[in-house]
Amino acid sequence: MLKNDHLDQWDRDHFFHPSTHLGQFARGEAANRIITGGDGVYIEDRNGKRLLDAFAGLYCVNVGYGRREIADAIADQARELAYYHAYVGHGTEASITLAKMIAERAPARLNHVYFGLSGSDANETNIKLVWYYNNILGRPEKKKIISRWRGYHGSGLMTGSLTGLELFHKKFDLPLDQVLHTEAPYFFRCPDPAMSEGNFVNHCVEELEALIAREGAETIAAFIGEPVLGTGGIVPPPEGYWPAVQSVLREHDILLIADEVVTGFGRLGTMFGSAHYGLEPDIITVAKGLTSAYAPLSGSIVSDTVWTILEEGTDENGPIGHGWTYSAHPVGAAAGIANLDLIDRLGLVMNAGQTGAYLNSTMREALSGHPNVGEVRGEGMLCAVEFVEDRADRRFFDPGRKVGPSVAAALFDHGVIARAMPQGDILGFAPPLCLSREEADIIVDKTARAVVEVLGAG
Ligand SMILES: Cc1ncc(COP(=O)(O)O)c(C=O)c1O
Repeated sequence: MLKNDHLDQWDRDHFFHPSTHLGQFARGEAANRIITGGDGVYIEDRNGKRLLDAFAGLYCVNVGYGRREIADAIADQARELAYYHAYVGHGTEASITLAKMIAERAPARLNHVYFGLSGSDANETNIKLVWYYNNILGRPEKKKIISRWRGYHGSGLMTGSLTGLELFHKKFDLPLDQVLHTEAPYFFRCPDPAMSEGNFVNHCVEELEALIAREGAETIAAFIGEPVLGTGGIVPPPEGYWPAVQSVLREHDILLIADEVVTGFGRLGTMFGSAHYGLEPDIITVAKGLTSAYAPLSGSIVSDTVWTILEEGTDENGPIGHGWTYSAHPVGAAAGIANLDLIDRLGLVMNAGQTGAYLNSTMREALSGHPNVGEVRGEGMLCAVEFVEDRADRRFFDPGRKVGPSVAAALFDHGVIARAMPQGDILGFAPPLCLSREEADIIVDKTARAVVEVLGAG
């Protein structure tokens, strides 16, 4: 690999990094990390430091790094046909085959796949489809979308609005008017620490019902949610939450969009999070795990019921006016096929369930006795450790102390990458689904050390 001595300076002078403190970065006050290679669950930076990537990039490199099968599929497709568009009925063998493979894996009734490039654009597509659907059904006022505080659905104009995190709204004039936010199903942060889990679920449902009553069900088109809250803190839902929410939505004829950008294709130990929690969504969003990020590709998986209305719409109005140049890009589709084949062949969905459960239980054993660890929680190959200043009265640290980022930095020095989640002192883990028990042990051991280094032994 060519070592360019100017790379560091070029990076600071010219590369506009997403989700980065621009001033600190440009002035050289914040580290830049230039990654050069990857193999299995490890990546390597240009200084030769090897790191166990316990967040799989941005919870997306699900099959792990360096998979030759996917690299070869991409190269073969690029050689044979690098691109052709998907407009007005065009397609490629790869894009058609992948649509069929997704429909075979998706829950029943979800049989039609619109391809995009990112989770954000797929969710933008979903909202447009929902609006179109209600226009065709002759109810143009039914357009508002309910999302949850701490939900993450992207960072476009609509999707950044759906995202319920402060950083993604502040100074961007978001959220847009059509978006409503309701209570996050985050039991650890429930308004009254004395509340039981069952009462908290009732509280979430009452908040949702009150919102619907206030706005009028006739103005609300859809509810969007991740089966497990991801970027908002890696929070599995409390028992009974999803069935209760789903029944409210049905009662008011509100569509359900399950955002499975993180949970799709195995992360919870089931092919889809919807199956995991008994959800019957009208649309599912997929991205990340669809190609394990070997190429950018996303999908909106649309139910037969919604599809029928979309067909009716085009019979009345002509072709659907929605498309990206790179929709169903054949190179992305080839990566998707090879990736889904690999997930099946290596039994990664099962491994995510089994090794994920092991990671969660060993993390709980190692850390839950520490006085500043408020909760260790997770599901499948997702795990989070939430820090508190005082466990007895559930008092959180002042965000200015940056406890979460400090533990992540100490862990990085021990050669493990976890993510300091953006809102709260929460350390997130979402390793590749091929993680072994030995690698899980390394993550837990180094995390325990990093916690003691930053917070003391307690
Ligand atoms: C649940 C969820 N939805 C949507 C997105 C947005 O995806 P992208 O960053 O590919 O636009 C993300 C990204 O992390 C996500 O976690």
